[in-house]
Amino acid sequence: MKAIGLTRYLPINDPKSLEDIELPMPVAAGRDLLVKVEAISVNPVDTKVRAPKDKVEATPRVLGWDAAGTVAAVGPDVTLFKVGDPVYYAGSITRPGANSEFHLVDERIVGHMPASLDFVNAAALPLTTITAWEALFDRLGIAPDGSDEGKSILIVGGAGGVGSIAIQLARRLARLTIVASASRPESADWCRQLGAQHVIDHYQDIPAQLKAAGVPQVDFVLCLNDTDAHFPAMAEAVAPQGKICSIVENAGPLEIGLLKSKSATFVWEFMFTRAMYETPDMIAQHKLLTEVARLVDAGTLRTTVGKIMGPINAANLRRAHAQLEGGRTIGKLVLAPF
Ligand SMILES: NC(=O)c1ccc[n+]([C@@H]2O[C@H](COP(=O)([O-])OP(=O)(O)OC[C@H]3O[C@@H](n4cnc5c(N)ncnc54)[C@H](OP(=O)(O)O)[C@@H]3O)[C@@H](O)[C@H]2O)c1
Repeated sequence: MKAIGLTRYLPINDPKSLEDIELPMPVAAGRDLLVKVEAISVNPVDTKVRAPKDKVEATPRVLGWDAAGTVAAVGPDVTLFKVGDPVYYAGSITRPGANSEFHLVDERIVGHMPASLDFVNAAALPLTTITAWEALFDRLGIAPDGSDEGKSILIVGGAGGVGSIAIQLARRLARLTIVASASRPESADWCRQLGAQHVIDHYQDIPAQLKAAGVPQVDFVLCLNDTDAHFPAMAEAVAPQGKICSIVENAGPLEIGLLKSKSATFVWEFMFTRAMYETPDMIAQHKLLTEVARLVDAGTLRTTVGKIMGPINAANLRRAHAQLEGGRTIGKLVLAPF
């Protein structure tokens, strides 16, 4: 089967950083689905894993943790899907990614695809949706049924892949007042279109802009970029007994003492935790993706495709990685078909 892989970790302008390769067809065992991949989307995790380093792989490594496709075969223990089902999923960081024609994934982290979307629009959603859903509803403890209506959230980095679905979930399901951050007119417009009532600039004074917007303190903060730089402003912006969740690793120590007098909470979200540790509640990701498919089909949520990058091949994937590395992507980058 066709795939895109790497053996060396090189800058993205090097044609050998991601190459077209041929791999043997995988075989489904246990609870695995064998999926015929129809569309993929690209995330910063791909560029972080691919980041230049001295390591050399003996066999090609395949990246890519966002796919939509059709179930081509099932392992003997599969109960949730059958051959022919359209599916969408992110997969597990501890296994090969989905930048290949066929791909194995545990059924407990796969969702039934929204019936109203094609593969391109579905492939944009899984990784960022799992992240945003877990951050808002599992980590920050916001009620998904709207019973926290009237509370407020600051979403730092609102126009990126995760922000594009987080704004929708916070507005359409939780009915929060949303302040999103964006630094350019086009990314600010994108946040407003998705449901943010206020947009501020993450490169300017965040607490001062919150005051000017009439939301001087927020009940929740979701940090989707540069945790180190934004931590002091987030600590100032969060209300007493409020909660901050970050999804972005810190480079240095965070001054957690800033939260003491407010009894504020800081919590991490890592969307690979459940699959990586095979937690007993791993099937929660199957359930949330299937629930999100229902919400998309009902018109409550919409896809977050920002740009379609063309067919799935190494040249187009290198272009997508280069764009993501620029840090100014709006919505999601999708490639299809093989
Ligand atoms: N923990 C997890 O499970 C998890 C899951 C998914 C992603 N992540 C991480 O979360 C981060 C965001 O992912 P993503 O897919 O949303 O990325 P993305 O799509 O590449 O995000 C691009 C957006 O980031 C904004 N941005 C750039 N610099 C910023 C800054 N200094 N402060 C705030 N916003 C800034 C840009 O807005 P403007 O153009 O308006 O400046 C742009 O719209 C990445 O680091 C990714 O690795 C973690």
